[in-house]
Amino acid sequence: MEITIWRPNDMHAHVREGRMLEIVLPFTARHFAHVVIMPNTTQPVLTGADAQKYRTVIASKTDQFPSFAPLMTIKITPKTTVKIIKDAKRSNVMIGKLYPDGVTTNSAGGVRDFTVMDPVFQTMQDAGMVLCLHGEKPGAFSMDREDAFLVELGRIAKQFPKLRIVFEHVSSSRAVTAIQSLPENVAATITVHHLVLSLDDVIGGNLNPHAFCKPIPKRPVDRKALRDAAFSGSSKFFLGTDSAPHPPQHKVWPEIRPGVFTAPVAIGLLVDLFGEDRLDQLRAFTVHNSAKFYELPVLLNSTNPLKLIRTPWVVPKDYSDIVPIMPGGTINWQVVEA
Ligand code: NCD
Ligand code: ZN
Repeated sequence: MEITIWRPNDMHAHVREGRMLEIVLPFTARHFAHVVIMPNTTQPVLTGADAQKYRTVIASKTDQFPSFAPLMTIKITPKTTVKIIKDAKRSNVMIGKLYPDGVTTNSAGGVRDFTVMDPVFQTMQDAGMVLCLHGEKPGAFSMDREDAFLVELGRIAKQFPKLRIVFEHVSSSRAVTAIQSLPENVAATITVHHLVLSLDDVIGGNLNPHAFCKPIPKRPVDRKALRDAAFSGSSKFFLGTDSAPHPPQHKVWPEIRPGVFTAPVAIGLLVDLFGEDRLDQLRAFTVHNSAKFYELPVLLNSTNPLKLIRTPWVVPKDYSDIVPIMPGGTINWQVVEA
């Protein structure tokens, strides 16, 4: 059995730097069209000039993937100024990513007081830029950190009604409901791993550092809400894999960093999850919804489709020592590499 799908967008990907970038970037570039490139590299992407440099590195490694279109971001920190935003816009950077202080990988020194950021939000709104938020409140209990952020999300959305806001990697049932009830300027990404994992996969048996990520996967009822949202076709929800590879030394105590590496298996897993009966919803979730929100052309998606065959394949235990989601597990659909 064979199917053809429009090439998906990935609105949240960590492609890293140096040797790690060389290993992981091809997995993303091979399968995805528009890809939002996260700025929380060790050398953070803080300005339009940084983003241009990073864009050049990425372009130099992806010649052979003509349907891959990276969308660069800058990291919004308490030091971000109105001038930095205006310069970034001039460098063709349309997206700012905000990490609250200390909530995830490379987020130390992030934002604690959000009202201080209002001039930056105002400038982003005026410039027609997109604000991507890691929606977790520093210091709240880890399972409740996302829900504790929703008040702040509501405030920003209300105060800046024309600012497009993406609530990244939504993970709780309450947050799904909040996104649904907020106005059109707010959307959310959903990862493949939050559609698949629950907290039991992280700590239910032996501790699994490779399933450990932020926000932490929650209860089955939360996962169900995420699946319902993804399957619903609602334009407020779209794919952002948050594929976040770490080298083996950063998956062992005392350096177990959050992040799940999903890029090589994301599409097979998604097709498995949606099933052949929901291919229209899959296209909404992976193409139309993000294209509409980010105002992207779908030509890249429609003219460079992916072919998949239904054949069981066993997920490799690692890719150059980087462990993916479900190592050794079986997925029923496989992308036929061109
Ligand atoms: C991401 C990473 O490793 O950069 N980790 C994660 O658990 N998701 C950062 C992030 O998106 O939170
Ligand atoms: Zn991320």
